[in-house]
Amino acid sequence: MVAVNQLHYMVLGVKDLAAWEEFATKGVGLVVSRRQGDTVHYRGDRDVARIITVQSDHEDVQAIGWSVSAEADLDELIAQLVSEGIEYSDVRGQDARTRNAIRLVRIMFDGVVHEVAWGLAFEDRIPFQSPVAIEGFRLGELGLGHIAMLVSDMEQSDRFITQILGHKVTGHMFVGPTEVRFYRCSARHHSIGIVQDPSPPRRVQHIQIEYNSMDDLGRALDRAAQLPMPVIVPIGKHNADWVISFYVRSPSGVAIELAHGGRLMREDEPTELEIFSGSVWGHRTGMDKL
Ligand SMILES: [Fe+2]
Repeated sequence: MVAVNQLHYMVLGVKDLAAWEEFATKGVGLVVSRRQGDTVHYRGDRDVARIITVQSDHEDVQAIGWSVSAEADLDELIAQLVSEGIEYSDVRGQDARTRNAIRLVRIMFDGVVHEVAWGLAFEDRIPFQSPVAIEGFRLGELGLGHIAMLVSDMEQSDRFITQILGHKVTGHMFVGPTEVRFYRCSARHHSIGIVQDPSPPRRVQHIQIEYNSMDDLGRALDRAAQLPMPVIVPIGKHNADWVISFYVRSPSGVAIELAHGGRLMREDEPTELEIFSGSVWGHRTGMDKL
């Protein structure tokens, strides 16, 4: 079985590309790295794109981009998909380049496109420099924070994430009767979390991105007060991944968790069960409205 090594990029459908650009650059602090028709690519480190917005009336996740380090991993993944009768497309050439990759395997699961990409583009000619005063984002080989998904069937999704994408289960958390499961593919505590919801308003519940310092996070909170970047969950510290974070509403409706201080896991860290409120402190309101 192949194991992806990080959550590399997210593709989001967005109605108002200009409003999203203002939010992403002046609010979050990302940089536009590429424009391509009705598509805008944003970087937060050496990678050409961590978030890609595509003009669309359907404001949800369009694709979740995972990566592998070797092309042979894609061939092995395809062999597994064939043996299990799972449909896929092997994307190369110009089509792969729209995702800044040499080649990728595209799989539709539970109404969401997952892309496993190989050979992703970096930008070394121009070092990343945020348009706002921050030290930077904690990305690199840890990948793009995490995505929290609302899935139609917990067990089927669990199987896809562990047996097809090769994640490890980090933990099960119960907040009241609601179960959240966390999965890791890098040292980051989780790159994907799932909650069962058969008919959600959108499949992505939130996307998390981490800053390098607590001051970066505090300055983002200051910027939120002056921008169309409404805070929907006030600052707090989570159980499970220990991040200090607050949540803002992006112009496309998708919640973004701006964070600092996420927990890193050892390779052999055991799976944990947590029965908690979801936060050590703070995050007092709004979690139910994500
Ligand atoms: Fe989160």
